[in-house]
Amino acid sequence: ESLRAFIHALPKVELHVHLVGSAGIDTVLALARRHPEAGVPTDRAELEQFFTFRDFDHFLKVYWAVQSMLKDRHDIRTLVTGLAAELARQNVRYAEVTVTPYNHLLDGMPGDELLAGLTDGRANAAVEHGVELAWCFDIPGEKGAVAGRETVVFALRERPEGLVSFGLGGPEVGVGRAQFEPFFTTAREAGLRSVPHAGETTGPATIWSAVHDLGAERIGHGTSCTADPALMAYLAEHRIPLEVCPTSNVRTRQVSSIAAHPIRRMLDHGLLVTLNTDDPPMFGATLEGEYLAVATTLGLDPAELAQLAENAVNASFLYTASKTALL
Ligand code: ADE
Ligand code: ZN
Repeated sequence: ESLRAFIHALPKVELHVHLVGSAGIDTVLALARRHPEAGVPTDRAELEQFFTFRDFDHFLKVYWAVQSMLKDRHDIRTLVTGLAAELARQNVRYAEVTVTPYNHLLDGMPGDELLAGLTDGRANAAVEHGVELAWCFDIPGEKGAVAGRETVVFALRERPEGLVSFGLGGPEVGVGRAQFEPFFTTAREAGLRSVPHAGETTGPATIWSAVHDLGAERIGHGTSCTADPALMAYLAEHRIPLEVCPTSNVRTRQVSSIAAHPIRRMLDHGLLVTLNTDDPPMFGATLEGEYLAVATTLGLDPAELAQLAENAVNASFLYTASKTALL
């Protein structure tokens, strides 16, 4: 119990959470009642049933069901506010939240509605919940170069307050990182930081490509680096942080259990590891739960937990001045 209190009291930073994947039961219930035509249960018990994650395909079904109910600024604001309330509850002070504009535009949401919802929600998060949010706009990789181009054009044309980084998500298998090089180059030249997913479901070659082709300054997941000692040495030497999401890795069956997670080995190799949740309610994860799991299952002591929390501050794209306030 003192461990739980210690973890709660740590001022925490979340660097890898998808906005659509952050929707909890209350948020989805609100959206389902607003959009009954989507066919998502409007009854709480029934929704809890639907929301109980069964396997990766079911996760995708829930993810896309939530996605399909997002129609306007009001819906986006509901999502952002729900996430901020949950972060505040766990004493998470700052989060970089991944938004996939291309998917919303494809679903017919006007860009202005998306931006208004994000900006309103972000202001509300600061005022009502004391949580600072920043945005990562990412490419849904499975939709190819057209999605890459639209995402970077949208990001640089609109540049909403709080936009700090440019990402790449979706499946890795069959979706080479290198094809997105021109879009990352444009985004980086305009000052956005490069944060692609790599090495979640594929091997070290994807991480090398993220580094060499996309100029990755931080890696989403990156867990498969443990298969390549030279890559681990490179990431450690260049201080390229990894956004590790242990529960997500278990739920998507990339690792068999938390006990089997290579996080300890990553730390032993001097990697800048951070703890994150990915799609928290859909994976039954919380950031506090991730800290607790690595402590109780992998034996990380309080000093190491504090180091992980500090790593996240240092790996974040907060301004140096704001970092000092957190530490
Ligand atoms: N988008 C939402 N969750 C994701 C994951 N686990 N990997 C890649 N893209 C995602
Ligand atoms: Zn992710």
